[in-house]
Parts: sequence; structure tokens; C-alpha cells
Amino acid sequence: MDGVTVIDHPLVQHKLTIMRKKETSTAGFRRLLREISTLLCYEVTRDLEMTMETIETPLQEIQSPVLEGKKLVFASILRAGNGLLEGMLELVPSARVSHIGVYRDHDTLQAVEYFFKAPDDIAERLIIVVDPMLATGNSAIAAIDKLKERGAHNIRFLCLLAAPEGIKSFRKHHPDVRVYTASIDSHLNENGYIVPGLGDAGDRMYGTK
Ligand code: URA
Repeated sequence: MDGVTVIDHPLVQHKLTIMRKKETSTAGFRRLLREISTLLCYEVTRDLEMTMETIETPLQEIQSPVLEGKKLVFASILRAGNGLLEGMLELVPSARVSHIGVYRDHDTLQAVEYFFKAPDDIAERLIIVVDPMLATGNSAIAAIDKLKERGAHNIRFLCLLAAPEGIKSFRKHHPDVRVYTASIDSHLNENGYIVPGLGDAGDRMYGTK
């Protein structure tokens, strides 16, 4: 699918299968989400820009590549996005973090922002927006609208599962933003849940249902 990368690494797919099982406990789900987030982070950062640093090995001085880590922002869409953050920050501890609370008003269809915190210089950074589920795409679209209003223009979107309907809508609104996902599932049901999916990601990771 155009503009979408499916991360089909065997470890990702194995962990995702366990997360989908309805009998997987809250603790297990949370642990797996943390593990899988590091693997997803590995793929979404595969082509990050590097810079050369002069270092000394015990044998000689060399030019060696390091990440331009200060240039990265992980933007979590509240609340489920936070489940992906921890593992990602373990891999890239120097990344900055943004939190975005946003929903789409049912009547006006306008994005309503209830929380937004991001570094001032997001225009100069690569923003990786994270939310485990790309369902209707509404909150991801709204969150990225808000980031763009503040100058962000180099953006990627990372999720665990995506529905075809959500991808279509998302790509229509933000064709410049590549989507990274571990799976494109069958469809959305009448309640906006991804089928077969894994249920409500926030509830499963925080045990709120
Ligand atoms: N959000 C979820 O947590 N799960 C879905 O299936 C859809 C949206």
C-alpha cells in the first residue's frame, strides 16, 4: 500500500499474536507492548540521519557515525500512545517527547485539543507520532494537524495495528506522512474497533475494563 510500511519481522508478528489473545493479562500485554515498541522503533528509525564523530579506539583515532539524536521527537497521542513511548525512549534516550490530547467533535467534526506539549523547535525535528491503533484515523489526523499548525513538517506515524479505512483517510489528509504498522487488519466494525484487532489498547494496557 502506498505510503505504508508493514513491519513483518517475525519477532514483531509473534509478540503481536500474543497481544491479540483475549486471555493475555494486563501485565503481559504491557510487557509485550514495551518489547514490541523497541522493535517498531528500530524499523521506523532505520534511515535516520547520522553525523560523524571523531573518537579514539584503544588503537587509533577514527571518524565514526553517531545519531543526530537531538533532532528527534516522539509524539504520543494520549493515552494509549504512552504505551509505545517507554520502549522507544530506551532505544533513543536523547529523543524529545511531545504529548498530544486530541479528539474529533462528533457534531462539528473539528479536532478538539485538550492537551498539547511539544518542544518549541519542532519545525527543525523529525517527529514520530505514536498511537497503537490507527482505527478511523481521526485522532491521528487531528494530532498531526496540530503539529503542522505549530510548524512541524517532517513527520512519520507509527502504530501497531491499522484498519484499511483509517489508512485511507489518514493518507488523504496527510499524504506526506508515512505510516509504519505491524499489521493492516480486515476492517472497522460499527463501533470503530479494528477487526480482528486486539480490543481497546488503552484498556488492555492499563486494565481499565
Ligand atoms: N482504539 C482501540 O484501542 N482499539 C480499536 O480497535 C480501535 C481504536
